[in-house]
Amino acid sequence: MGTSVLQPAVIRLVAGFLSLSGFGVEGYTYHFQNECRFNSHSLEGIEFIERRIFNKLEYLRYNSTLGKFIGYTEFGVYNADRFNNDSSVLAGYKSNVDAVCKPNAQIDYDTILDKSVKPTVTVKATKPDGSSHEYMLVCSALGFFPRKIKVTWLRNGVEVKSGVTSTEEMSNGNWYYQIHSHWEMTPQSGETYACKVQHKSVSDQPIIVQWDPSMPESDRNKIIIGVSAIVLGLVIAVAGLIYYKKKSTGRILVPSS
Ligand SMILES: *[C@@H]1O[C@H](CO)[C@@H](O)[C@H](O)[C@H]1NC(C)=O
Ligand SMILES: *[C@@H]1O[C@H](CO)[C@@H](O)[C@H](O)[C@H]1NC(C)=O
Repeated sequence: MGTSVLQPAVIRLVAGFLSLSGFGVEGYTYHFQNECRFNSHSLEGIEFIERRIFNKLEYLRYNSTLGKFIGYTEFGVYNADRFNNDSSVLAGYKSNVDAVCKPNAQIDYDTILDKSVKPTVTVKATKPDGSSHEYMLVCSALGFFPRKIKVTWLRNGVEVKSGVTSTEEMSNGNWYYQIHSHWEMTPQSGETYACKVQHKSVSDQPIIVQWDPSMPESDRNKIIIGVSAIVLGLVIAVAGLIYYKKKSTGRILVPSS
């Protein structure tokens, strides 16, 4: 289970070109955008697209599957006809499939797309506002790649459907993703609860994090804060003592002239 749902989606490689004529917000933009579109290792049907865009309007597109240009404005249609009439232009564009797209897609699979990074999974309990339930459990999966992931809740090992909501997979902006799943629930004695995470990085061994209502989060936090305060107090006391000793014994005062 798990791996079959983890196929990468269509990847767009943007090798854009941007030029500005004029300055600041008054300028115009004209850009070419090249894309290699593919969704399988076989690179079967990999497609090279070039879009020519003035400001935000795409007026001309080359599509390697069609093997020709399509115009979207009068100027675009004029140029599409011109380029489509020239077999050397068409041959040159078509050659990008083998010369540019295939080698780059292979590099992408080798260096990024076939790699995966395991999420860190935690379960926290909070008290929901205005809910008939005692707890809102939050299962957070952090720092994973690729994006595709499945987070479910288990009661006595059986998947829970009701009272569960989830965020989207959110991009951290650094290739990694995070997701948070919420479950509003009231514990019953004798039951077990867990969050289950399925991801490419752990293939058929889902990550399962148990939650035990016998020790609510708030108590655990109080203990951690208490212990931290004691440790911090000791560190300051020891540092103060060392400083005092050094100052009173180690200093030789040199009188200034
Ligand atoms: C390119 O053309 C093919 C065949 O008509 C079409 O299926 C595909 O969606 C087109 N791709 C783009 C990006 O327009
Ligand atoms: C297409 O090419 C032919 C011959 O090379 C030329 O006579 C004709 O004007 C061209 N058509 C367009 C739309 O450029």
